[in-house]
Amino acid sequence: MTANQRFTPGLEPIETASRDEISALQLQRLQWSVRHTYENVASFRQKCEAKGVRPNDLKALEDLAKFPFTTKLDLRDNYPFGLFAVPRDQVVRVHASSGTTGKPIVVGYTQQDIDTWANLMVRSMRAGGAKAGDICHVAYGYGLFTGGLGAHYGAERMGCMVVPMSGGQTEKQVALIQDFKPDILMATPSYSLVLAEEFERLGIAPEDISLRLGFFGAEPWGEGMRGEIEKKLGLDAIDIYGLTEVIGPGVACECIESKDGPVIWEDHFYPEIINPDTGEVMPEGEPGELVFTSLTKQAMPVIRYRTRDLTRLLPPTSRSFRRIDRLTGRSDDMLIIRGVNVFPTQIEEQIMRDKRLSGNYQIKLSREAHLDQVEVRCELQREVSDQLSDVDVAAVGKQLQHHIKTNVGISTRITVLKFNSIERTLAGKARRVFDERPKLV
Ligand code: DLL
Repeated sequence: MTANQRFTPGLEPIETASRDEISALQLQRLQWSVRHTYENVASFRQKCEAKGVRPNDLKALEDLAKFPFTTKLDLRDNYPFGLFAVPRDQVVRVHASSGTTGKPIVVGYTQQDIDTWANLMVRSMRAGGAKAGDICHVAYGYGLFTGGLGAHYGAERMGCMVVPMSGGQTEKQVALIQDFKPDILMATPSYSLVLAEEFERLGIAPEDISLRLGFFGAEPWGEGMRGEIEKKLGLDAIDIYGLTEVIGPGVACECIESKDGPVIWEDHFYPEIINPDTGEVMPEGEPGELVFTSLTKQAMPVIRYRTRDLTRLLPPTSRSFRRIDRLTGRSDDMLIIRGVNVFPTQIEEQIMRDKRLSGNYQIKLSREAHLDQVEVRCELQREVSDQLSDVDVAAVGKQLQHHIKTNVGISTRITVLKFNSIERTLAGKARRVFDERPKLV
């Protein structure tokens, strides 16, 4: 490491530190985080006791492998505030994300956690080429989802002028972009293409769109899509990664000079790659499931949180921290539909609420005009199948559509079929999900 690299203007010293310095900081913070969680979160302490490990056993980074994992189930079982490691009155914000059924999973933040998050968003935005004074149009959803507010607080702290547009209302979004001339767009990659098409429809050429940069994440996307977004919007498209359970957007972000995968902010989140079947830690560079341990979070630390995202760790390039490769899939059945996390069981739960419907269903995913489309095919119970009028059947579909929209948060097309119309699986698991969306390139 040259002195020059170490003091690159604008970068925090840790971003260009040596591996030894990073590891030393990680170990010190890891020891704090594991002890803090052990002492303040009963369910983690019980899991440690069952495995016979104590915080004192953490003498080197590799010792983390002796500690138990945290999963979405732990968040569900401790709903809503059971994993908080500080008194409730020190928690200044909550966010939430999909659970597998019913209740969402909840995460909490102290004021310091909110500050850390905003600072990491600033670091992410700087890596992607943003600067103070830029105008930043945020089209991630505001609310319980971490995208909108996470981007918002980061951009404000960066010194940007923030346009808190949130999602939807495409025509209005485009009109505001035309009028305010933002430099930066924050959106899901699929929604950015919807915006691009609206520009196209209006006959506005990419070089006449003010946007210089876009921070895209919350759903999988590939190099093909990056090329398309960059061409149609005339900007540099940066990959930003994160998840609610760990903090939200800004766990990792790409650097504009290399665009070679999100850099993990390893001084705050310690990554491991495990074999999703055995839980064993994989050798450096091998593919597997990404696991994170928070190193500085106060309100809701997570120790060895299984993200279910499949990827591998890549060596450092533009920063001293390691990167994540494009995600290749998930080790559970979670679907990401227009940026919303959905478990098939959440849809099943809504179907099963209606006693007139049998438990057989199929979820068909396709993509039209860059947006995910969902068709839910379900069928009537034998007893009512021939009795209901067409009007009644249409009402069953409408009601299900409404229940899915209000409880799961996605728009669907419902097809209600007669009893026994959906093929039965005679052996093995029923195939419920037919994902016909084009594969990522
Ligand atoms: O999606 C946080 C976020 C908001 C990230 C805005 C980036 C931008 P969740 O709703 O909890 O949080 O979903 C997390 O989304 O485990 C991945 O499967 C997927 N995901 C997030 N970012 C990316 C990305 C937010 N850049 C889940 N590429 C994660 C691929 C991503 N998948």
